[in-house]
This record gives sequence, structure tokens and C-alpha cells, in this order.
Amino acid sequence: MEQDIQEVLISEEEIERHVAEIGRQISRDYADKNPIFVGVLKGCFIFMADLMRHVTVNCTMDFMSVSSYRGTTSTGAVKINKDLNEDIEGRHLILVEDILDSGVTLNYLKNYLSVRRPASIRVATLMDKPARRKADIYADYSCFEVPDAFVVGYGLDYNENYRNLPYIGILKPEVYE
Ligand code: IMP
Ligand code: MG
Repeated sequence: MEQDIQEVLISEEEIERHVAEIGRQISRDYADKNPIFVGVLKGCFIFMADLMRHVTVNCTMDFMSVSSYRGTTSTGAVKINKDLNEDIEGRHLILVEDILDSGVTLNYLKNYLSVRRPASIRVATLMDKPARRKADIYADYSCFEVPDAFVVGYGLDYNENYRNLPYIGILKPEVYE
């Protein structure tokens, strides 16, 4: 697995430091608000698990699973594979994503969920790739701004592989070919 990685972009130590900082920030901003964290599977799973352990206020969590039809349609349609179990009306919602790329997925989700009248919706992402943004959406909390390269590890995959790498790495180009 490691031989497919060209370069470590973000080390385990750096990730730990930045995730802890975002956790503290969210804890300050959401004191007494009992937020609900909504993780977007599968990419969020490691980030969300680490983030939650740095959140010191009462909160609940739930998960959604979506697939986007990137490349096959221009509508930016997103398919909901697993919806929320919890009622979010009146709740302060924090969407947790691995990476904000074109923004199409999160933009769709934000609109989709806002119909259920949550008190607020914010976005927390591990990484932000602003260079590729298509939708009008930004991250309220972001651990790292990354360049326009395909990254894997710490939950992120290429063809479902590499999610278990403990750091964020850039894949060798020959892996795609
Ligand atoms: P968006 O709708 O273009 O913002 O898509 C975001 C989703 O695409 C993320 O949640 C990831 O699952 C996936 N994605 C985007 N960039 C990368 C990357 O560099 N590595 C792995 N997955 C990525
Ligand atoms: Mg994802």
C-alpha cells in the first residue's frame, strides 16, 4: 500500500493538532446549543471519530451516505443511499465531510436538509480544495487547505482503497493508469 504513495502531504501529528483545534473551536461556538453532527459516509469516518473526542459540549450524531454522479451528468445530482435517523427540526446541524472539492455534494445536502427546518447548518471539513469549487459553498471549519491533487488516507479512498492510511498522501500517477 505505502509503495503507491508519492508523498506524505499531511502527517499524523499535523492532523492530530489541527483536528483538536477545530474541536475546541466548535466547542466554544456551540456551548449550550446541543449540536447534531452529521457525518457524510464513508470518507468522514476517521475524521469524525477523532473530531468528536475533542468536542466537549453535549451533542448527538448521525450519518448519511450519498453517491454523486460526477462525470456522468451535468446536473450535479446526488443519490441518497442512507438518510438520517434523527429528527433535525430546530437543531443546530454540523455537516462533517472529508474533503470539499467541487462542493456539489455538500451544496446538494445542505439544500436537501434545510427543508427540514434545522435551526442552523454549518460545514466542518478535514480538507478544502478551493481551486476546484463549482458550487457556491464554503467551509465554516476546515483543518487544511490542499492543492489540486488527488489525496488518499485518513478515511479518503481511491477505488475504496487506502482509507486505512494514518496520514494524508498523494497517490503516484501510475496508480491511476
Ligand atoms: P464534491 O461534490 O466535488 O465536493 O465531492 C466531494 C467528494 O469527492 C468527497 O467527499 C470525496 O469523497 C471525493 N473526493 C474529492 N476529492 C478527493 C480526493 O482528492 N481524494 C479522495 N476523494 C476525493
Ligand atoms: Mg466523501
